[in-house]
Amino acid sequence: MLVLGIETSCDETAAAIVEDGRKIHSNIVASQLRLHKKFGGVVPELASRAHLRAIPLILKEAYQVAKASPEDIGAIAVTNGPGLIGSLLVGVSTAKALSYVHNLPLIGINHLEGHIYSNFLTRVVHPPFLSLIVSGGHTSLVLVKDYGKYELLGATRDDAAGEAYDKVGKLLGLGYPGGPAIDRLAQKGDSRKIKFPRPYLPHSFDFSFSGLKTAVLYYLKRQAVDDKGGPLNRDSGSIPPPTSLPVTDIAASFQAAVVDVLVKKSLKAVNKTKVKKLVVGGGVTANTTLRRRLKEEAAEAGIRVYIPPRYLSTDNAAMIASAGYYRFQQGCRSDSLTLNAVADLKLS
Ligand code: KG4
Ligand code: ZN
Repeated sequence: MLVLGIETSCDETAAAIVEDGRKIHSNIVASQLRLHKKFGGVVPELASRAHLRAIPLILKEAYQVAKASPEDIGAIAVTNGPGLIGSLLVGVSTAKALSYVHNLPLIGINHLEGHIYSNFLTRVVHPPFLSLIVSGGHTSLVLVKDYGKYELLGATRDDAAGEAYDKVGKLLGLGYPGGPAIDRLAQKGDSRKIKFPRPYLPHSFDFSFSGLKTAVLYYLKRQAVDDKGGPLNRDSGSIPPPTSLPVTDIAASFQAAVVDVLVKKSLKAVNKTKVKKLVVGGGVTANTTLRRRLKEEAAEAGIRVYIPPRYLSTDNAAMIASAGYYRFQQGCRSDSLTLNAVADLKLS
């Protein structure tokens, strides 16, 4: 069965056609990165308008690449939360209209569930397993007991890991998004140069990355005072580091702190739940050090780790179509007239 997936929760307009939850026939993603870059982050109103402009073209391309037409589609899956409400509404309204016009079943999908299912597109993986979802908006540890059956073990109490990357990227003058830029610089740096704090929250599976971000900010302020002998303008949101600062070392040291916490807490949660399988997803999964460390340390601990390829780590609609297929198999249907976008939709 072919499922049409639609994803517009943040700043990527995406449509995909996927067969039986696993075989990608098309996977089209239009990024709004250039639009938001000059503002240093996603501007919600601009994002909604850009989704509106892009969605007809993206859908057309998804059908063309898959050599399919609406008659070939068995169901439509759409992200209905969590995310930016205006952005979500574009995808949800489009999916509702298509479902109504073509008389196709509609399934609302949680974006985090989509990130978990991104792994199903390249490898065979069956629940139960533990899932780490690390994106711009979320850092969550979820026990996937069965298809569609979730128990949230922990989540971020403040900044998500990707958000911390983006904010530190801004502090380092690297622009938006900070994640890929810090990752690139970190590969050339020495992670032992600066000992940034590791926020483990040892008695909980929750995460907290805002203190780490603040530690980088204070490190930069101290360095700038030392080098120039004068105080910095504290009102400035972004402090491009003086050239004498080892930006590569700062990036590597920050990255090591984030990755240490993500890897250690995930493996601890796998051991506690005894599922022996770790399935990761979300934009930060594209990170070079995280991918390497997860593979190495999971292998040492006798845990199987599933990491999506980079093009499926960041937001896409193939993962939504895959999640939609499995929901469909379980008999889930959303009402094509009343399905709504929910900005803080919980995984249930
Ligand atoms: O899943 P995603 O595409 O969108 C959300 O659902 O938020 O994740 C985007 C996040 C951004 O914060 C971005 O900086 C981060 O993923 N990211 C990375 C890397 N590539 C993307 N973070 C660290 N290293 C990367 N290579
Ligand atoms: Zn995402």
